[in-house]
Amino acid sequence: MAELLRIGLGRGRVLDRTRVLFQRAGIDLSALDEDPRRLIHPITLPDIGPAEVVVVRDADVAVYVEHGVCALGVAGYDTIAEQRPNVLLPLDLQIGKCRLCLCAAESVDPLKLESPRIATKYPHLASQYFLERGSPAEIIALSGAIELAPLVGLSDAIVDIVETGETLRRNGLVEKATILEISARLVVNRAALKLNSEAIRSLEKRLKEALA
Ligand code: PRP
Repeated sequence: MAELLRIGLGRGRVLDRTRVLFQRAGIDLSALDEDPRRLIHPITLPDIGPAEVVVVRDADVAVYVEHGVCALGVAGYDTIAEQRPNVLLPLDLQIGKCRLCLCAAESVDPLKLESPRIATKYPHLASQYFLERGSPAEIIALSGAIELAPLVGLSDAIVDIVETGETLRRNGLVEKATILEISARLVVNRAALKLNSEAIRSLEKRLKEALA
């Protein structure tokens, strides 16, 4: 018998858009509103039956999926590219579109500095970017409010997500280069696809149709 399907969703800004997409696909996630402190939300999937949704930090979704405790989830391509989890990425959900950029003050050219100090939540992607350009950057890993780092002298530049560009503008920073285009992806555990293929394929099909 197939296991109960568990779906991992990130609690960040993409959650609202994920909910809209799932709704369009006929998947009701209103259970998430019933008790915000509850960590596991029982739902009913059309054609499939009982399932569960867990809402975790965006960066943790792929971890839950890779370890198989969630059969599938929705995660930003930024965290996937940073973490390189061993998962399947069958569908670009085309929501949460943004880009990973190298940003700094207008007057600073990070690639011309001898050893630029780069603050970021994406240490692997940032170091790879500078390595490919032969620049011995010092990567300073932070967890949030990355734009603050160059303003207070912690770094020369940042590698961070830009969506509207408003945070950069408000803090006197500009985009110097785009490193990666990002959107939310359907993330699927490899073993789960074999054990629970009918349910996962049906969910994937519904989401694909909702995108069309
Ligand atoms: C992200 C990112 C930028 C901001 C960009 O931060 O790190 O700070 O969004 O969005 P914008 O271009 O539309 O202004 P997030 O809100 O995820 O919080 P964080 O500071 O904790 O990273």
